[in-house]
Amino acid sequence: MQETILFLAFAGMAMVAGWFIQGIRASTTNVQTQPINEGRRSVLFWGLLVGGILITTATLWRWPHDASAGEGSVSVNVTGSQWSWEIDRETLPAGKTVVFNVHTTDVNHGMGITDDTGRILVQTQAMPGYVNQVRYVFEKPGTYNVICLEFCGIGHADMINEFKVVAEAG
Ligand code: CUA
Repeated sequence: MQETILFLAFAGMAMVAGWFIQGIRASTTNVQTQPINEGRRSVLFWGLLVGGILITTATLWRWPHDASAGEGSVSVNVTGSQWSWEIDRETLPAGKTVVFNVHTTDVNHGMGITDDTGRILVQTQAMPGYVNQVRYVFEKPGTYNVICLEFCGIGHADMINEFKVVAEAG
């Protein structure tokens, strides 16, 4: 996915650069330009305006997205303190929406969840006085870690606690 986005960004940049080069070239040659066709310009303007409104409305129609976690979701409280995480469930189910209620008893921490390769799957801030929620569906059973993503003192790097994701019976 990231490669595709990078490729599209480069293609877009090349296109814009091409237009600029074309514009610079055209500005230095003395060519007679066509007079602007007012009717055609008007059609283009209103077409783009109406089309833009229709496309924007159609694609944003379902917003804001439903904030509920859905049936069968599971919630877990994750509380950070210098320098560990307290997770109030030992296991979480695979294939279900898990709602993490993230809180801290002292300073700001960055709550991140990583898989067994160390890849960050989801993250949110742990802030004093607030409970931040983040949702995730674990596809695979296994061991996952809650890590800290914000420097929070001498023990920051050791702020790692694991939990297990298990396949639901039945
Ligand atoms: Cu908690 Cu870094």
